[in-house]
Amino acid sequence: MSELALLGGTPVRATPFTAWPQYDERERQALLEVLESRVWWRTPGTRALRFEQEFAAYHQAKHGIAVTNGTAALEVAMAALGIGPGDEVIVPDYTFVATASAVLFAGARPVFVDVDPRTYCLDPDLAEAAITEHTRAIIAVHLGGHPADLDRLTALARRHNLPLVEDSSHAHGSEWRGRKIGAIGDIGTFSFQQSKLMTAGEGGIVITNDDAIERLARATHDCGRMPGEWFYAHFIYGSNYRLSEWQAAILSQQLARLDEQAAVRSRAAAYLNAHLAQIEGITPQALDPRCTRNGHYAYIFHYDRAAFANVPTERFIQALNAEGIPTQASYPPLHELALFQSGEYRRRLPPEQRDGEPPFLRQNFPNTARAARETVWLPHYILLGGEEDAASIVEAVRKIQRLARNLL
Ligand SMILES: Cc1ncc(COP(=O)(O)O)c(C=O)c1O
Repeated sequence: MSELALLGGTPVRATPFTAWPQYDERERQALLEVLESRVWWRTPGTRALRFEQEFAAYHQAKHGIAVTNGTAALEVAMAALGIGPGDEVIVPDYTFVATASAVLFAGARPVFVDVDPRTYCLDPDLAEAAITEHTRAIIAVHLGGHPADLDRLTALARRHNLPLVEDSSHAHGSEWRGRKIGAIGDIGTFSFQQSKLMTAGEGGIVITNDDAIERLARATHDCGRMPGEWFYAHFIYGSNYRLSEWQAAILSQQLARLDEQAAVRSRAAAYLNAHLAQIEGITPQALDPRCTRNGHYAYIFHYDRAAFANVPTERFIQALNAEGIPTQASYPPLHELALFQSGEYRRRLPPEQRDGEPPFLRQNFPNTARAARETVWLPHYILLGGEEDAASIVEAVRKIQRLARNLL
């Protein structure tokens, strides 16, 4: 029996997985066309506009506003919803910092809420319990591509007359009851940063079915301008969040590939769900039956060290990497970040919110804590290689379990 690769043995995989990002002649041609058109910025261009329409239509939304990145998309969403000083916005404790920092950027206070222990997405009951007279919006994150419970969250938002924001940066092409995520709530945001399911290196988009939200989001992203008005007329406070024509040209090609890639990822994920679940101590992220497609930004599973000779998660991940299986880091609980624990975040808030420590900073978020410390995240591109690649992941986990004692 071979030794673990971390201890000098032969790795399960000697060959790399599918490279990311993917491109071909279509991206090359699209970039060349932008170059030779000499129209490289959005305002007089056609490509960002075309991409907005394509992406919105694909996600069954009426409007799309392409922006510079996924953080900007959340900032534009906050502005379009009129979130400002004195307001509170509910966000999951388990997500990337941008979900909360966009709230701070608006001068409002993010209120952290724990996640569901099986899907790792915002828990609707706990979200409801966190609503106060200051709450102005709820942001759900479709973690790893798995939709948050959109039935319960849309009902909750409606009941309390609050807008629901879908931070869909992990979930391009994910579906809930056969409908694409993003515009099931009032407004959806996406990132096209390099690690995402479609990418131009950087980029983002806001989608919505609401005409009034669209108007404000579009004006916010373009210096407060309104479509059809004079270039130097500025009607509301805005900034410059415009996407370039280069990025839009690439993103149209990336979108054209999304369905095909999603189908390959879904098959690999189904294989992993079937085989990893048979290994004692490994529990894949749950698949809610109402999720008709998980876009799979990441394949996430819970790791129980008790079934691996008590080897800590970080050591298991090192061993997995040494076997040739790449991983990406899980997020720390947001409330533990220095930004919040040091009190630095208060500088973004109005004086009446600056004093005292909000209870949510001292609270326990057990499901987030467990997810942050005990889950393993496999990046989406390793699901693009078919069953043989998926089988090598299962083999590596089994091998580590068999030889776990050697890691102590
Ligand atoms: C859940 C989530 N929201 C927002 C963002 C922000 O996107 P960007 O990096 O494009 O600013 C990310 C990106 O990493 C993310 O994972």
